[in-house]
Amino acid sequence: MHLLAGATIVALATSCVASPGYLKLDLQRRSPYEGRLIRRQNPDGSVDTVLTQNSNKLEYLVNITVGTPPQDLGVTLDTGSSDLWIPASSAKLCKQGQCDLGDFDPNASTTYKVIEQGGFNITYAAPGDTDAGDWGSDTITVGGSPSIDSQQIGVASQLFDPHGVMGIGFDTNEANNDSPSGVYPTVLDNLKSSGIINRKAFSLYLNDFEATTGAVIFGGIDTTKYSGDLVALPLQPGPQGIVSEYYVTLTSVSFTDSTGQTTQLSPQGYSQATLLDSGTTNTLLTDDIFTGLALGLGAVTDPSGEAYLIPCSLSTANGTINYSFGGDGGVTIQVPVSQVVGGQGYTSSQFDDPSGGCVLAFGTPADSGGFSILGDSFLRSAYAVFDIDNKVAALAQAVENEAGTSSIVVIPTGTNIPSATATATATGTQLTAVAAETGVPTASVQGSSMILAGTPTFSLATSSSTTTVGSTSSSAAANNAAVPTAALLGLGLAAGIMGL
Ligand SMILES: *[C@@H]1O[C@H](CO)[C@@H](O)[C@H](O)[C@H]1NC(C)=O
Ligand SMILES: *[C@@H]1O[C@H](CO)[C@@H](O)[C@H](O)[C@H]1NC(C)=O
Ligand SMILES: *[C@@H]1O[C@H](CO)[C@@H](O)[C@H](O)[C@H]1NC(C)=O
Ligand SMILES: *[C@@H]1O[C@H](CO)[C@@H](O)[C@H](O)[C@H]1NC(C)=O
Ligand SMILES: *[C@@H]1O[C@H](CO)[C@@H](O)[C@H](O)[C@H]1NC(C)=O
Repeated sequence: MHLLAGATIVALATSCVASPGYLKLDLQRRSPYEGRLIRRQNPDGSVDTVLTQNSNKLEYLVNITVGTPPQDLGVTLDTGSSDLWIPASSAKLCKQGQCDLGDFDPNASTTYKVIEQGGFNITYAAPGDTDAGDWGSDTITVGGSPSIDSQQIGVASQLFDPHGVMGIGFDTNEANNDSPSGVYPTVLDNLKSSGIINRKAFSLYLNDFEATTGAVIFGGIDTTKYSGDLVALPLQPGPQGIVSEYYVTLTSVSFTDSTGQTTQLSPQGYSQATLLDSGTTNTLLTDDIFTGLALGLGAVTDPSGEAYLIPCSLSTANGTINYSFGGDGGVTIQVPVSQVVGGQGYTSSQFDDPSGGCVLAFGTPADSGGFSILGDSFLRSAYAVFDIDNKVAALAQAVENEAGTSSIVVIPTGTNIPSATATATATGTQLTAVAAETGVPTASVQGSSMILAGTPTFSLATSSSTTTVGSTSSSAAANNAAVPTAALLGLGLAAGIMGL
């Protein structure tokens, strides 16, 4: 998740202790709104409560404990922010039973201390996404780690999100601009200073869409989870002009279809600083890249304007989105089309394709407040190493569903990333302006609830057929004036498109 605004920088000294190694945590993928009741705002402004379809908003969770005795919580693992915060059991949403990953009662912990009442407020880039409450500190454990004492945490009593977040970014990107303590040690800082890891570095393996678990390894790299070489990429300055987030230089985006034909999606000379953000569901690049991909896949904007839809059968289509990083000597990550087919929004009777309509897990910077973001729909195909101490990220092609075996190399103190073979140094610029995307047709209604699928221009042979996916009925489209009330894509999907 990307913060709306970054924090100011204060240098902080931490003591280092010799380390035994690394800490591996399993990740659990889930869609937080799945099968849950949510409030949906109708086009006329009224609000009703509906059971969501499969939401497109996927998250990757880790288990932690907070307090003495320990209270169990699940939190989103987020490379796009830096604070650990959890929902307070006094929050309205939790009292209503919606905090299903646990909540925290500070009154029930003998080690909890208040740092600043009412001082915690984190605002993510998605509209309305603010969680606020107290700053406190307590003993925590992360995925069964040894205890970390006096970890600063946000305890949120005013919630937008029904569960907390563990940010694993730079301490200089904390949300505590006005905190009396200034920049404070993050969980990652404390894992290092307590000797659990040697370097503020970790690797991330989300694994593919169908897999239920991936892993984050603090202080280590699993060399069985990627193919080819890990290539180191110097981190690029963020919007504030300093390196305090995981921005890498993306230098080309193209699509290779099932016939081997490649369509260049990024413009000539493209060199974009782009955030590696596990807390954002979708990938949000520039408008022209989005439009080229959306038209190629035959996407349509759903009538509510909240989602881009493609036939669900594209989950078996052949073709890859190729992302190249770092320029000369860089690395290319191939993302199969199947990895950008999100949750189903429309059934076959509601969408002009027998497989139904699924959300395209891709968008424009307008969906994120103007940032260029490589979210989960990119990260699932990459093995990514993040190194705060040396301001470097390294990427390689992930080997999906590599179960059983593992071979973990400890990341030592110092500067080199073990088994990274090359460094690619192209610099990237930040996005300057964000315009609304253009050119993607808006779906319209055929009969009572049919929504037209677009016609892909890419060749996308699926496993069940060799014809292109999707269908055209443009003449039928002309008959329809009314916007459907159906708009199955309510608040849940809207939130999904934005990510966090
Ligand atoms: C977290 O804890 C819950 C409840 O015990 C468990 O179902 C889930 O599998 C755990 N997740 C991970 C990633 O270990
Ligand atoms: C803790 O107890 C105090 C006083 O009993 C109460 O006002 C507060 O809401 C409680 N906090 C939480 C998070 O339950
Ligand atoms: C938190 O910060 C946001 C953005 O500055 C502000 O709109 C909101 O009112 C604040 N909320 C609380 C509870 O302080
Ligand atoms: C792009 O991906 C395809 C596989 O879909 C691969 O054959 C091709 O070599 C890739 N292009 C580059 C530049 O890596
Ligand atoms: C699609 O890809 C699979 C393997 O990924 C391959 O077996 C199949 O032949 C491909 N189909 C077409 C039509 O290219």
